[in-house]
Amino acid sequence: MREASPPDFDGRAQQGGGETRTHFGYSEVPLGDKQGLVDDVFHKVAHRYDVMNDLMSGGLHRLWKDVFVAKVHPSKSRPFKHLDVAGGTGDIAFRVTRAGGRQTKCVVLDINPDMLAVGRERAEKKGLSDRLTFVEANAEDLPFPEGEFDAYTVAFGIRNVPRIEKALAEAYRVLKRGGRFLCLEFSQVEAPFLAKIYESYSFSVIPLMGRIVTGEAEPYRYLVESIRQFPPAEEFAAMIEQAGFQRVGFTRLTGGVVVIHSGWKL
Ligand SMILES: C[S@@+](CC[C@H](N)C(=O)[O-])C[C@H]1O[C@@H](n2cnc3c(N)ncnc32)[C@H](O)[C@@H]1O
Repeated sequence: MREASPPDFDGRAQQGGGETRTHFGYSEVPLGDKQGLVDDVFHKVAHRYDVMNDLMSGGLHRLWKDVFVAKVHPSKSRPFKHLDVAGGTGDIAFRVTRAGGRQTKCVVLDINPDMLAVGRERAEKKGLSDRLTFVEANAEDLPFPEGEFDAYTVAFGIRNVPRIEKALAEAYRVLKRGGRFLCLEFSQVEAPFLAKIYESYSFSVIPLMGRIVTGEAEPYRYLVESIRQFPPAEEFAAMIEQAGFQRVGFTRLTGGVVVIHSGWKL
């Protein structure tokens, strides 16, 4: 692993010295190594993931997720098949399931069994297990046929995926015609004053919080750095278009701290 300066990455894997390399936070790593490193992070944080989300965002992530899921519009009366990729401990899938009718079924897909185990346990407690399926798989290679789902969501997950273009192509493939792609992801804060506060909060307070609550600061440093490496909203929207989606657009929330991206398979 070698250190890389923050601004030189555009969200795509880079070719250099005969080996394709990418970023893991601010470090530069062989493309093939990134997923294993990401998996270690989520293995370490899984048992405290939900508590830390509340602490780090001051509860704001719940509001962002509510606004995000309000765009899904699952049918109240007809069958609706939803796929939540990088679904982790189930926050998005629980909201979609509750918003839809009895025939709304959700698949929570994640590469990390530890995150899924927490999700399964939570679903059981909430009495939602019969409408949810938990699948351990990679966003880059979805184990579903073409045209299977009415909607696809990915929340705070896409920046962790090594080959983002592959994940977007898979999202397009598994959606039905008329299906919607929605992505919730951290982004760059626009207002300079807010950006300064956000920067020092992210790099000083979050890793410290991680150390106090979980005993580990490193996974939280990666989470913060990976946000800085993710392409700006305009660039990511162009990647969504390149994957074939139409009527692509995005909405910034909380001064640009997070962005909701949307596209349709028409
Ligand atoms: C920050 S968590 C987001 C969890 C959940 N969506 C939420 O909003 O609370 C990121 C998730 O992405 C998952 N992930 C990372 N790489 C992945 C991949 N290639 N395919 C599927 N999931 C992946 C991680 O295991 C982790 O559960």
